[in-house]
Amino acid sequence: MNQAAVAGRPLGAAVIGTGFIGRVHARAARLAGATLVGVGASSAAKGATAAEELGARRVYLTPDDVASDPQVDVVHICTPNALHLSYARSALAAGKHVICEKPLGTDLVEARELQERARESGLVATVPFAYRYYPSVREARAQVHGGRLGRVGLIHGSYLQDWLAGGASTSWHLDAAKNGRSRAFADIGSHWCDLVEFVTGDRIRRVSAVLSGWPDGDAGTGLGADNVATVLLAFESGAVGSTVISQVSPGRKNRLWVEFDGTDASAVFDQESPDSLWLGRRDSVTIIPRGESGQAEQAAAVNIVPPGHPHGFSDCFALFVEQSYAAIRGHWSDGLPTFDDGARAAAVVDAVLRSASIGGFVAV
Ligand SMILES: NC(=O)c1ccc[n+]([C@@H]2O[C@H](COP(=O)([O-])OP(=O)(O)OC[C@H]3O[C@@H](n4cnc5c(N)ncnc54)[C@H](O)[C@@H]3O)[C@@H](O)[C@H]2O)c1
Repeated sequence: MNQAAVAGRPLGAAVIGTGFIGRVHARAARLAGATLVGVGASSAAKGATAAEELGARRVYLTPDDVASDPQVDVVHICTPNALHLSYARSALAAGKHVICEKPLGTDLVEARELQERARESGLVATVPFAYRYYPSVREARAQVHGGRLGRVGLIHGSYLQDWLAGGASTSWHLDAAKNGRSRAFADIGSHWCDLVEFVTGDRIRRVSAVLSGWPDGDAGTGLGADNVATVLLAFESGAVGSTVISQVSPGRKNRLWVEFDGTDASAVFDQESPDSLWLGRRDSVTIIPRGESGQAEQAAAVNIVPPGHPHGFSDCFALFVEQSYAAIRGHWSDGLPTFDDGARAAAVVDAVLRSASIGGFVAV
């Protein structure tokens, strides 16, 4: 599907999997001007209900169903992780552009296969590392790249949720066949690492991880699925860092927090308070509100609501989908996360699992 084929008409979108994030994709697709042609579901009955709720005309039950629909230009894959490979592979083979949820596959082998297929196809293939679309994240990136923090030598933080606390969940995430081997780290640690590499342009070179299934599993043994991951990080630049990833921290809903400490200043981004960036110096602390005059050009480029109106998760998603669609029309934008970034995240997850099983540092 080349740019000429979609010029001057709305894109036809299919959303496969219409749970939490599939509905976010469906709304973002509409906002970006696409026609929601159909939805993919695990049964005809579920598909019919979702299609009616979301205003789609068709229901797909297999990867071939959607790949063979001539009205579909772009396939959004929002299913449990184990289905990402088959849906993305078929869609790319049929010449459809793909937006595939993270993690790109259940392991590094699957992610690399999709990265390779996307490259060979020349199609647009993106992964929603949507936190990149907070203006405060872009402001942090501009501060780092503009040298205003000095030399960044320490990067640390955490990503904490509590939806697995209490042990009552029946989610597919608990089934390794549907989820993959890593649970919390692949699910949300991948976001934290992507954000850190995106902001700094630095790369995680080595990791040393301890995983825990606490409070249900084999605490501290590194066996079983991780509800918790603690990871030491060594970056290519020589910077060091650490992160704590948990889905069992009561009261924490979506606390992605990261601090970049430089020789001159430190910057902090907090996803639960995303409308400002904290900037610390030896003699002053400054809060940079989103949308302030003098904000970095790259922050202004993703600032879509005036200050005073919070810029939230849905805004990030809307921007990500809009810019994925712009790429389909031939207009690539700075920071659009692709299958290369999805495979990169899978490589970090893979290193974390290897490190936890042998104990000690391993290369990514
Ligand atoms: N980028 C982000 O910020 C973000 C946020 C949440 C989830 N995700 C990712 O999105 C994906 C889905 O997560 P979720 O939280 O929406 O899960 P979910 O359980 O809410 O939704 C999954 C949906 O897939 C459907 N499904 C199951 N089997 C299917 C099949 N064979 N064919 C089609 N549909 C099928 C389920 O019925 C359900 O509607 C996961 O890969 C997850 O990691 C990404």
